[in-house]
Amino acid sequence: MASGKIIIAIDGYSSTGKSTFAKLVAKGLGYIYADSGALYRAVTYFAYTNGFIDDRGNIDKENLQRVLPKVEITFRTNKKGDSQTFLNGANIEKYIRQSTVSSHVSPIAEIPFVRDFVNVMLRRMGQDKGLVMDGRDIGTAVFPNAEIKIFMTASEQVRAMRRFKELQAKGEKDTFESVLENLKKRDYIDSHREKDPLTKAKDAIELDNSSMSLEDEIEWLNTILLPNFNLKVELGQQEI
Ligand code: CDP
Repeated sequence: MASGKIIIAIDGYSSTGKSTFAKLVAKGLGYIYADSGALYRAVTYFAYTNGFIDDRGNIDKENLQRVLPKVEITFRTNKKGDSQTFLNGANIEKYIRQSTVSSHVSPIAEIPFVRDFVNVMLRRMGQDKGLVMDGRDIGTAVFPNAEIKIFMTASEQVRAMRRFKELQAKGEKDTFESVLENLKKRDYIDSHREKDPLTKAKDAIELDNSSMSLEDEIEWLNTILLPNFNLKVELGQQEI
């Protein structure tokens, strides 16, 4: 039986509940949680607010590539223990989940130099292991040697409803139809791009959580995957 810190890579389609699950797993193991999508969203927010994406969605790649190395994206934890995304020192967390960013993020994330830029930051976070990272290509491209790889799926309707409720709770005005449409569009672009498309790694274990609660998912992880590494996610009463 192996022991010591490991990397857990969680990939899957949009709104499969990867980040909620990944956060809980990281907390339960005392590991670091990293949301790779937040980095792509931050780059998109930067590009959009600085005029590198026009009204028709065209991206000025040449100039974006020129300025990107000077862009600084960091994560800090707030008093409530939630990770916040900072762009050049400013907290942009509340903007990066909004529909303007969601509708441009996949075209930005398919640009190879953007992926290279983000990957440098992601790999740095995994240097000491003890990491749970979620995204689209973590088990295939970012950490192909991750000890545990999970590929999460759920039906389109279930996923869109989850995201719709999440946005409603934040006071966003998106309709269910627009959320579903964005989800389908992103899934399509993410799985058809040339560089590191969204696909299940050969050695990833699939988890369809359409009718599973978070507790069920943790129980599944504790029973099926973690015993091999002598690990167990322990959750406090208040956490789910
Ligand atoms: O929360 P949701 O699953 O909808 O998306 P996210 O994880 O915040 O990722 C937003 C977008 O970033 C995705 O639709 C992808 O286009 C891109 N992404 C990526 O290309 N590779 C990753 N490892 C993570 C995100």
